Amino acid sequence: MTNMIPIIVLVITSNLISLLFFSQLSTATNTITRYQSLNDGNTLVSNDGTFELGFFRPGSSTNRYVGLWYKNIPNRRIVWVANRDNPIKGNNSNSTMLVISKEGNLVLLTNNNQTLVWSTNITTQLLSNTSSHVAQLLDNGNFVIKDNNNSDQQSKNFLWQGFDFPCDTLLPEMKLGWDLKTNFNRQLTSWKNWDDPSSGDLTWGIVLSSNPETVVKKGTIEIYRSGPWNGVDFSGYPILTITPIFEKKFVNNSNEVYYKYSIVSKSTISIIYLNQTILRRERITWIPKENTWRVYDSVPRDDCDDYNPCGPYGNCVHNVTPICRCLDGFEPKSWESWNSFNWTQGCVRKGKKTSSCGVNDGFGNFTGLKLPKTTHTWVDANMTLEDCKNKCLENCSCTAYSNLDVRGDGSGCSIWFGDLIGLKQVSAIPQDLYVRMDASNVDSNGDISGWHDKKSHTLAIAITIPLVIVLLLLLIVFYVHKRKTKQREMEDKLDNSILAKKEDEDGRYLEIPFFKLSTIIDATNDFSNDNKLGEGGFGPVYKGILAPERQVIAVKRLSGSSKQGTKEFKNEVILCAKLQHRNLVKVLGCCIQGKERMLIYEYMPNKSLDSFLFDSAQKKLLDWSTRFNIICGIARGLLYLHQDSRLRIIHRDLKPSNILLDSDMNPKISDFGLAKICGDEQVEGNTNKVVGTHGYMAPEYAIDGVFSIKSDVFSFGILLLEIVSGRKNKGISYPRNNDNLVGKAWRLWKEGNSKELVDDCFGESYILSEALRCIQVGLLCLQQHPSDRPNMVSVLAMLTNETNLTQPKEPGFIIKRVINEGESTLENVMSSSINEVTISLDAR
Ligand SMILES: *[C@@H]1O[C@H](CO)[C@@H](O)[C@H](O)[C@H]1NC(C)=O
Ligand SMILES: *[C@@H]1O[C@H](CO)[C@@H](O)[C@H](O)[C@H]1NC(C)=O
Ligand SMILES: *[C@@H]1O[C@H](CO)[C@@H](O)[C@H](O)[C@H]1NC(C)=O
Ligand SMILES: *[C@@H]1O[C@H](CO)[C@@H](O)[C@H](O)[C@H]1NC(C)=O
Ligand SMILES: *[C@@H]1O[C@H](CO)[C@@H](O)[C@H](O)[C@H]1NC(C)=O
Ligand SMILES: *[C@@H]1O[C@H](CO)[C@@H](O)[C@H](O)[C@H]1NC(C)=O
Ligand SMILES: *[C@@H]1O[C@H](CO)[C@@H](O)[C@H](O)[C@H]1NC(C)=O
Ligand SMILES: *[C@@H]1O[C@H](CO)[C@@H](O)[C@H](O)[C@H]1NC(C)=O
Ligand SMILES: *[C@@H]1O[C@H](CO)[C@@H](O)[C@H](O)[C@H]1NC(C)=O
Ligand SMILES: *[C@@H]1O[C@H](CO)[C@@H](O)[C@H](O)[C@H]1NC(C)=O
Ligand SMILES: *[C@@H]1O[C@H](CO)[C@@H](O)[C@H](O)[C@H]1NC(C)=O
Ligand SMILES: *[C@@H]1O[C@H](CO)[C@@H](O)[C@H](O)[C@H]1NC(C)=O
Repeated sequence: MTNMIPIIVLVITSNLISLLFFSQLSTATNTITRYQSLNDGNTLVSNDGTFELGFFRPGSSTNRYVGLWYKNIPNRRIVWVANRDNPIKGNNSNSTMLVISKEGNLVLLTNNNQTLVWSTNITTQLLSNTSSHVAQLLDNGNFVIKDNNNSDQQSKNFLWQGFDFPCDTLLPEMKLGWDLKTNFNRQLTSWKNWDDPSSGDLTWGIVLSSNPETVVKKGTIEIYRSGPWNGVDFSGYPILTITPIFEKKFVNNSNEVYYKYSIVSKSTISIIYLNQTILRRERITWIPKENTWRVYDSVPRDDCDDYNPCGPYGNCVHNVTPICRCLDGFEPKSWESWNSFNWTQGCVRKGKKTSSCGVNDGFGNFTGLKLPKTTHTWVDANMTLEDCKNKCLENCSCTAYSNLDVRGDGSGCSIWFGDLIGLKQVSAIPQDLYVRMDASNVDSNGDISGWHDKKSHTLAIAITIPLVIVLLLLLIVFYVHKRKTKQREMEDKLDNSILAKKEDEDGRYLEIPFFKLSTIIDATNDFSNDNKLGEGGFGPVYKGILAPERQVIAVKRLSGSSKQGTKEFKNEVILCAKLQHRNLVKVLGCCIQGKERMLIYEYMPNKSLDSFLFDSAQKKLLDWSTRFNIICGIARGLLYLHQDSRLRIIHRDLKPSNILLDSDMNPKISDFGLAKICGDEQVEGNTNKVVGTHGYMAPEYAIDGVFSIKSDVFSFGILLLEIVSGRKNKGISYPRNNDNLVGKAWRLWKEGNSKELVDDCFGESYILSEALRCIQVGLLCLQQHPSDRPNMVSVLAMLTNETNLTQPKEPGFIIKRVINEGESTLENVMSSSINEVTISLDAR
């Protein structure tokens, strides 16, 4: 839509020459009037000093442009260009100026040649008294033309505004989308090149439909779609990533459809732009301390974000191979091409496909899916989910339905016609999609949770019978094998423990067993579901029994994408195996074969802390002294990781499910070093960029992705409060919870009522002073600023000595949510100034 700026290059006739007697702007101002021009070399500065507008030459280009940038950011980043498609050519810079013409338009002249290079285009009926027109640079970066004599100074009805003609950058407050009255579309268009601001072929805009979504395109090819708005965010975003520094807004009514965001804190600078080089849309945030822009979000994020990776009814699951699978109740349309990893044909409904519609139809309930493309949809904001279902049943071409808005208990109705495409498994999306399918594939509850294996009975039988046969065969083979040669067994045993060697810093050789894949497959019954202990970050964990000694082990099968080579991986594992501490789970060995990477741990019969702590029956087994022992044990383990070991491991994913308990209820930290081993910058687990979901992440990580030892301390603080209170911290979670654990702990602390936080199930049988001390230490660990948090040495000292403790300040991540009635925006307010967190990143 940049063509909306007219391309006018004409030789000025004598009547325009009268314009040319202007006084030049001398001091910094934000306004151009009829009598003051802006010459090349001078700039306009917004009132509050944030933005500056002037002439610039991009890269090695010889052209000059009028552009806008943040005044106080050293390496000037151009965020808007007035004449991107009409450059000032050549070197005539001192004679170029921006003026208000007699007609009240903003025009760019190169007066050596008396040439009009560029002009705004205000239609004549608006031009009442042009002599009072001024061009002004507003504090939000909007460069506008307005009538200075307009009595209504606050009027947003500018005669013209730069925000209507975005370039490659969406500034806060800028609207992306449509004015339906005039059929005017504002969309981002990338620069052609790093030194050429003219329109490139990467765009980001809103695609109109009854349930609109935003789409990034390269030329005419769609490369990313956001999914429709769900009341809080676009469907493709894990909803818990709502970051309190932004307020996002989506407006859809008969006049306009647009998206915009604003930044809660004035001093934070964060923008969205299109990067033509890497073909991505990125959000970047300025980090003053480091003097750089840091990339905060970059889409497409993964293969699954591609436009339609898996074909109709195919569900894309990032991090597993192959990434595509059919929705439960569906099967590949062509097994042949599906098996050769060509997913374009997608999947089709299982069961009878021909008979009349409606007779045998049910709906599968899928959770955690990015909603399908909305080109053919129908919506009603007032309909209940039940009516929505009936509406869908009425029409044979309806294939799915869902709520429109996820806030509260969900409301409204959206129904889809035709094939469902672009499905992606995203964690933490509270919007369920109900997909029409053959009733025989729907279990009694209609529940089918995404791609997880909650199979119907027929499926279960279909799988169990072959499994039993295979197991029997295995048993026979095993028996025969065992009887035949005892000698072979000995050989095997040796094979199983080929020793991997690595010289450590002291010149000694470190050794760990290096298991064969076949050994692990035997031990875990080919990774059977029965042996599955759970699913942690980085992959599932299986119980296994090593054949000769019947030693029980836990096998962590690292999912997919380790970015390291085999050698580096081996080295890291060996180093981790070297970390030995009674509060760390012991690494027994590893298995690397082909793409498979596995870690073998000692087996912990009592499972993890969360299975006790958050279970009303089980938690009674954890009396106070046990819990205190657990707290101190975790602290010791963490201290070892942080300081005593030579590796200086930052755990990054400390939470109750990663604390295992041995038979004496001693805590053992697991999953340590995995972020390092997996070469992973973010701890993503098997979910995708779940920044902030856990409720265990420090603010500087959730907001800026910065992780340090002190962020582990933060997570430890949460863990501590959870252990003492027996309650789960909901963190920055879904708005239904009004008060999280940290918030509550702080409130009670202020009121001097901390005792109330202590788990009810103790009754009177606990040591009050110890519990209060734990809570205080917990709050100290949760300080907003990393440098205010103690290190683990001090934590341990504070927990175990009767020293005086410092008073905590308000913790870092108390988030209050306000949903105004009527106004449907969701405000996320951080209790204390977010800037300090975003900007003072001394955590590194
Ligand atoms: C101004 O813009 C309108 C609509 O975009 C267009 O029809 C008109 O021709 C333009 N005027 C000039 C002078 O370019
Ligand atoms: C433009 O200016 C540069 C140096 O500022 C000079 O090298 C170049 O020759 C000039 N080009 C023209 C066309 O005047
Ligand atoms: C600008 O150009 C004019 C000629 O058009 C010349 O007289 C003047 O010296 C130039 N000024 C500067 C600062 O180069
Ligand atoms: C100046 O104008 C003439 C036509 O009058 C044109 O041929 C020439 O290219 C222009 N020069 C510049 C530098 O714009
Ligand atoms: C326009 O405003 C100027 C003062 O800014 C005034 O002198 C003039 O009479 C006005 N013209 C009209 C047509 O209202
Ligand atoms: C402002 O407009 C009024 C009429 O609306 C006119 O009388 C007055 O002269 C104008 N003043 C300026 C400064 O333009
Ligand atoms: C968007 O607005 C249009 C026009 O008011 C309406 O028909 C449509 O249902 C709305 N869509 C959503 C998702 O609210
Ligand atoms: C585009 O991305 C590349 C690679 O991350 C980066 O080097 C470049 O600076 C980016 N372009 C812009 C305009 O920021
Ligand atoms: C995948 O299958 C489709 C249709 O079956 C075919 O058109 C396409 O060329 C195939 N793609 C590849 C990469 O083989
Ligand atoms: C669909 O599944 C979700 C999560 O399992 C559940 O909360 C919801 O109630 C289910 N919907 C229906 C209609 O059963
Ligand atoms: C939907 O409900 C709102 C208020 O809850 C009401 O204003 C509106 O008229 C209703 N729309 C329809 C189509 O019933
Ligand atoms: C079903 O929906 C489609 C798409 O909106 C529409 O064209 C068709 O007329 C509908 N059929 C019935 C029976 O309502």
